[in-house]
Amino acid sequence: MYEVVSNEIIAPNIHRIEVSAPRIAAARLPGQFVIVRCDEGGERIPLTIADADPAAGTITLMIQAIGEGTAELTRITPPDGIRDVAGPLGMPTEIEKLGKVVCVGGGVGTAVLFPLARALADVGNHVTTIIGGRSEEFVILRDELAEFCDEVIVTTEDGSLGTKGFVTVPLGEIIEDADRRPDAIYAVGPVPMMAAITEQTRPSGIHTIVSLNPIMVDGTGMCGGCRVTVDGEIKFACVDGPEFDGHLVDFNELSVRQQAYCGDRHCRTTNATPQTNSENDA
Ligand code: NAD
Ligand code: FES
Repeated sequence: MYEVVSNEIIAPNIHRIEVSAPRIAAARLPGQFVIVRCDEGGERIPLTIADADPAAGTITLMIQAIGEGTAELTRITPPDGIRDVAGPLGMPTEIEKLGKVVCVGGGVGTAVLFPLARALADVGNHVTTIIGGRSEEFVILRDELAEFCDEVIVTTEDGSLGTKGFVTVPLGEIIEDADRRPDAIYAVGPVPMMAAITEQTRPSGIHTIVSLNPIMVDGTGMCGGCRVTVDGEIKFACVDGPEFDGHLVDFNELSVRQQAYCGDRHCRTTNATPQTNSENDA
């Protein structure tokens, strides 16, 4: 049993949970994830390790309660525990000094982006982070990101905080500005967001890394559940990813596979047309 040390609500339906898992806390690298199971025979839920404290032996998980399995997980409070926490899984992010990088987090995807942004800042990159949510209460980790990012830009769809519109609005402005144009972009969020950003950066060829979260079952490359097509080849996000070159990902296929499993609320239709500033103003 892996003891839950703390459980706090950071946004509607989104919990930050600290779990005692000393071996994983010591071994994990940015970009890696765990698969958790509340009890024997329970749903297997892949979750990115948002943070870790090797000295305390804890890992931090951010969970959006969208189904029965995730809802059950968010109901666990100290000193109860999680039956299985398997990991660290997946390929770590390749962290190197590139110069100027822009990290883009959509909604709860910001939790996955968080360790990448920090690792990129730690090696000396100039990190601009753009985070977006439907409204103010859905914007997470703004203050935490501000501690190490050079700039944090917030967008909300209803204009209740920061720039009104999607994350692609300020990203477009940065790409167009020769002085600010990034050497690489990391995007984590809903599939339509990552697809849109990939189309936005394709003309300029800016290296665009996306973190995919297809349905995962075993997390070992055996079941095929997390199949994605990258550069015409089949890859398994759990062992080959979760990060891939966005310009090579077949987002249409990914979107169809995602929609086969989830309800309307969390699966917006893929729209690879980025929202721009002029559309936002209209
Ligand atoms: P959401 O639908 O509220 O979107 C959050 C923000 O993403 C929006 O405010 C907007 O700025 C941006 N966005 C969304 N669609 C866009 C588009 N078409 N073009 C440009 N920007 C767009 O997000 P949410 O409800 O917090 O997140 C739920 C989704 O995030 C689920 O589909 C889930 O699978 C996905 N998710 C992905 C990852 C990952 O690792 N890629 C991790 C966690 C969650
Ligand atoms: Fe089964 Fe990736 S989760 S192959």
